[in-house]
Amino acid sequence: LSDPPLAVGAPHAMPLATPTEPLTVAAAELQPDQVNLDASPSAAVGRDDIAEVVLRAGTPVALDPHRVSPATGRFLLCEGPAVVAGGIVAAEPVVEQVDIHPVDHLLTANARAWRNGHKGAVIWLTGLSGSGKSTLAMMAEKALFARGFQVYVLDGDNVRRGLSQDLAFGPEDRAENIRRVGEVAALFADAGLVVITAFISPYRADRERARRAAGAAFHEVYLKASLEACEARDPKGLYRRARAGRIAEFTGVSAPYEVPEQPDLVLDTGMLAVEACVDQLVSYVERATALDTAVASTG
Ligand code: ADX
Repeated sequence: LSDPPLAVGAPHAMPLATPTEPLTVAAAELQPDQVNLDASPSAAVGRDDIAEVVLRAGTPVALDPHRVSPATGRFLLCEGPAVVAGGIVAAEPVVEQVDIHPVDHLLTANARAWRNGHKGAVIWLTGLSGSGKSTLAMMAEKALFARGFQVYVLDGDNVRRGLSQDLAFGPEDRAENIRRVGEVAALFADAGLVVITAFISPYRADRERARRAAGAAFHEVYLKASLEACEARDPKGLYRRARAGRIAEFTGVSAPYEVPEQPDLVLDTGMLAVEACVDQLVSYVERATALDTAVASTG
């Protein structure tokens, strides 16, 4: 509705029913014009254009698919006081959960922690491709195992061969990949293990959802390395292929990476040697999962 186009990355507000939610346009696909009938990804949506748009919010937003409830399934997008677009919600509702009844375990988290000698945790590594996630995760796993930890690495490339083999690298597929891994990692932590995850996980909102799944057991670790440093390493030759246009939506090249705002730990893999980063990570995990002596008596 406005002259400046709806630009990917621009913050907006969305009055929907009574609340107004702050959110960002994550991706846009212009809808088929009547002439050539092809939908195409686009960095901006102009006046009078029609587009299917992925919107990303930091917190869950209550909404209804327009198909189910037209009154609460339509919204406006505002930029400051100006209304810049109107839309309908295309998302499908989550499967009805009224007939699902969760079952309680007869074991406590404490009992598991005391058997293992440490608490369960999700150690969530995030960073660009080539920032060292897999290398650090595997080395920390080995070092922690040697110290008696129940520890396991969930690695992006491995998980994408199985659990997430049906997913690609668009914003929606990455969100689903991280949702699955976040839920699985939370189960690992609940089982008492230390699980180290090594996923680019480029979107803040997806990482926050993973944090919500694991609660206090979640620790976000940012592997800080500049795009230039990662591209110079290019361990799998992927940056070269992405620059040559052979890989679509490659993080850092043709897809975004949202740097963590308040990570629990930053490992400067651009500056420090691998061993120094592993040491920092291992000591962090030891501190974060240490048994609480206060619960020893009640445990
Ligand atoms: S994530 O964005 O959904 O978190 P994930 O960590 O699972 O990504 O997978 C990243 C791995 O997939 C990279 O290490 C790389 O080997 C491979 N890969 C293939 N295509 C892409 C792409 N377009 N962007 C990023 N990584 C890709």
